[in-house]
Amino acid sequence: MEKQQLIDEIREWKEKKDAVILAHYYVDDDVQAIADYVGDSYFLAKAAMKEKKSMICFAGVKFMGESAKILNPEKTVVMPDGLADCAMAHMVDIEKIKQVRAEYEDLAVACYINSTAEIKSYSDVCVTSANALKIIKALPQKNIFFIPDENLGRYIASQVPEKNFIFNDGYCPVHKAMTAEEVKKAKKEHEDAEVLVHPECTMDVIAMGDYIGSTSGIIDYATKSDKKEFIICTELGVMYELKKRNPDKKFYGIGPKQVCIDMKKVTLENVLDAIKYDRNQVELEEELSRKAKHALDEMLRIAQ
Ligand code: 13P
Ligand code: SF4
Repeated sequence: MEKQQLIDEIREWKEKKDAVILAHYYVDDDVQAIADYVGDSYFLAKAAMKEKKSMICFAGVKFMGESAKILNPEKTVVMPDGLADCAMAHMVDIEKIKQVRAEYEDLAVACYINSTAEIKSYSDVCVTSANALKIIKALPQKNIFFIPDENLGRYIASQVPEKNFIFNDGYCPVHKAMTAEEVKKAKKEHEDAEVLVHPECTMDVIAMGDYIGSTSGIIDYATKSDKKEFIICTELGVMYELKKRNPDKKFYGIGPKQVCIDMKKVTLENVLDAIKYDRNQVELEEELSRKAKHALDEMLRIAQ
C-alpha cells in the first residue's frame, strides 16, 4: 500500500475504533508523524492516564504498552508489533529483589519504567530518566536498590550523595554500545558542538556530556540553546523531533550503533493492523496489574 493510503486508512480506523496513537521518540519518523502524542516515557505514561479514547495503540516496546494498560485497565491497549520488547526490561530477577530486601532495612526498590510488569509489582516506586532525580531525592528511605539499569542508577547516585545505592547489572544494549572514544572523535570533528547524553549511557560517556537528560530533556535543551550544533548520544529516532523543531541547527550522531531494533519494528503497516484488527492486545493478570500499578502511581504522585 502507498504511504498516503496507509496514513488515510489509519485515520479512518482511528475514528472507527475510537483510538489514539502514542509514540516514543525512538520509533520511525513516519510513525512519529502520524501519532497523536509523541514523547519520552514519562510524558507517554501521563498521556495514557489522561486519555479518554477507548483504544490506545502504543507505538513503542512492550513495557510501554504494559504501563499504559496497568494505568488504564478498562481500555484496549494494542501494540503494533507484539515482539517489540526492551532487553533491559528483563535484566533483574525477582530473587535478587527479595535478597536485597532481606539484607537492607530502610530500603526502597526503585524501578526504572523500562521493566516488566512483574518487576514493577515487586518494586516500591517507578522512575523514568526524566523524573528519577526528583523521585529518588524525595524518597524517605536511606537505601535505594536501583533496578534494572546500572548506568542510570550510577548517574542518579552521583547526584544524590546522601543516599546509599545498591546497583543491579542491567543495561540498555543500544546506549551501552556508545563509547567515549566515539564522543571524542565527534567532538574533534565538530568543535563547536555541545554533547547531549542520555543517562542510560555509561559513566565515561555521561562525563563528557554538556547536558544529561531524557529524550524530551535532550530535545528541549537543544531547542532552547543558543548553540547551533549538537552531538547526540542516544537512539537516533530523536533526530526527527530535533530537526523538526530546529531546522536551522545541526545534529550529529557518534556512530553506527545508535539504533534500537525493537523500536524500529513499529511501522505504519503494523500500526494500521493493530488498530483495525485489535492485534497484539496487552493482557495482564489482575493481581499482577494491581501490584505493579502501585509503583507507577507512586511515581506519578511524587513526580507531580
Ligand atoms: P526516555 O524517553 O524516557 O528518555 O527513555 C529512553 C528509552 O530508552 C526508552 O526506551
Ligand atoms: Fe530498551 Fe534501550 Fe531500546 Fe530503550 S533503546 S527500548 S532501553 S533497548
